[in-house]
Amino acid sequence: MLKIAVLVSGGGTNLQAIIDGVNNGTITNTKIEVVISNNQNAYALERAQKNKIANLCISPKDFETRAAFNEEFLRKLDSYQVDLVVLAGFLVVIPPEMIAAYKNRIINIHPSLIPSFCGTGYYGLKVHEGALNRGVKITGATVHIVDEGTDTGPILLQKAVEVEEGDTPEILQRRVMEQAEWQILPKAIDLIANGRVRVEGQKTYIK
Ligand code: GRF
Repeated sequence: MLKIAVLVSGGGTNLQAIIDGVNNGTITNTKIEVVISNNQNAYALERAQKNKIANLCISPKDFETRAAFNEEFLRKLDSYQVDLVVLAGFLVVIPPEMIAAYKNRIINIHPSLIPSFCGTGYYGLKVHEGALNRGVKITGATVHIVDEGTDTGPILLQKAVEVEEGDTPEILQRRVMEQAEWQILPKAIDLIANGRVRVEGQKTYIK
């Protein structure tokens, strides 16, 4: 059984897709051990509560230094003894010591086809604004392994989504969520839960 922690900061629609996937069997061999947010008002925490999933809030704002936050954040995560950490719209920089401790065991969903529209400053609606400003005809979402960089780790899954006439960043964001994010993030977890992913350097292989 793959034990996972899901890290969230906002509405939690990707978390909901994972909860639904576990409940309807599209995600097998997986248990959501804990949901962790930096934002006590995140609706994602309510989703966890409604589904009787352990949840907690920890924010850098509550600590004197970032180092103190990083230490406590890692200690709390370790206490759940999870196999995989899933970043689902988590807006806090993952501490280097956590990346080292969970090497190749942290995945992130990014709402573009990496390497487009990613990296520092590209998050939330800004990703879709970038795609619309550039005039791309195809965008999408990416699930990747988290490494020391920002959106730079090995790519696990991607799914393309068409940009349509008249799209606003909000309309495009919703389509990317519905047609890509909520499909590939659960799929990635199920693949990992069933031992079907191998990571070699910057490449991943799915059996
Ligand atoms: C999603 O668009 C995801 O791609 C990005 O942050 C957003 C989180 O949305 N990383 P939600 O909290 O899962 O609804």
